[in-house]
Amino acid sequence: MFARIAPKYDLLNRVLSARRDVAWRKKALSLWRDTPGDVLDLACGTYDLGLEAIALNKAKRVHGCDFCQPMLVAGNAKRTGRAVSAAVGDALHLPYADGSFDGAMVAYGWRNFGDPAASARELKRVLRPGGQLLILEFFRPEKVWPKVFYGTFGRFVFPTVGGVLAGDTAAYTYLNDSIKRFLTIADADRTLREAGFSNTRWVSFFGGISHGVAADV
Ligand SMILES: C[S@@+](CC[C@H](N)C(=O)[O-])C[C@H]1O[C@@H](n2cnc3c(N)ncnc32)[C@H](O)[C@@H]1O
Repeated sequence: MFARIAPKYDLLNRVLSARRDVAWRKKALSLWRDTPGDVLDLACGTYDLGLEAIALNKAKRVHGCDFCQPMLVAGNAKRTGRAVSAAVGDALHLPYADGSFDGAMVAYGWRNFGDPAASARELKRVLRPGGQLLILEFFRPEKVWPKVFYGTFGRFVFPTVGGVLAGDTAAYTYLNDSIKRFLTIADADRTLREAGFSNTRWVSFFGGISHGVAADV
């Protein structure tokens, strides 16, 4: 599915969020207290979060990893001349030794990993003591406004725009369905703590449509 939408992925992000996704990445990165040296950008897609981290001096070197090679290829031109590398790898079996990174981040990938607890443990495994985690995600809505948003805009506009601009109604139907099936923010907080993270700090975007969470090892 991600391979199918890769060529139009950036365009759809900008249109469906009215460019708010750019601001959300910036704001989430402000949750990091300093500038980690080696940072894993898991499910990096077309590298938007890693590139923003470099631009904002929130990472010295970014190691992008995604299980979908066409997504990596679609973004390759954007990382030319930047300290952002790329590797193919699965979130549940990361191709890195224990304690490889000072920071790890995931933007809109966690929901897709199949086993949120196991992937949180993998992220903890590859971080060094003192390392930081950052996750941006669409969590299962519990409050009225996000429920209304996903029940209307998410249900009808996502698939329609996805069909028109990417020729893929199914992928953007999956987007809304996967949000409804995912963890709530309370579940997510508990999952991160059970995986060994501490000091979780949250930020909410657009009245709870999306969230960012940072945590420490
Ligand atoms: C919605 S995109 C997010 C891309 C990018 N982080 C961003 O913010 O634009 C989700 C990404 O997760 C990747 N992905 C999904 N499951 C994965 C897994 N098990 N291991 C690694 N990457 C995965 C997909 O290939 C896709 O690039």
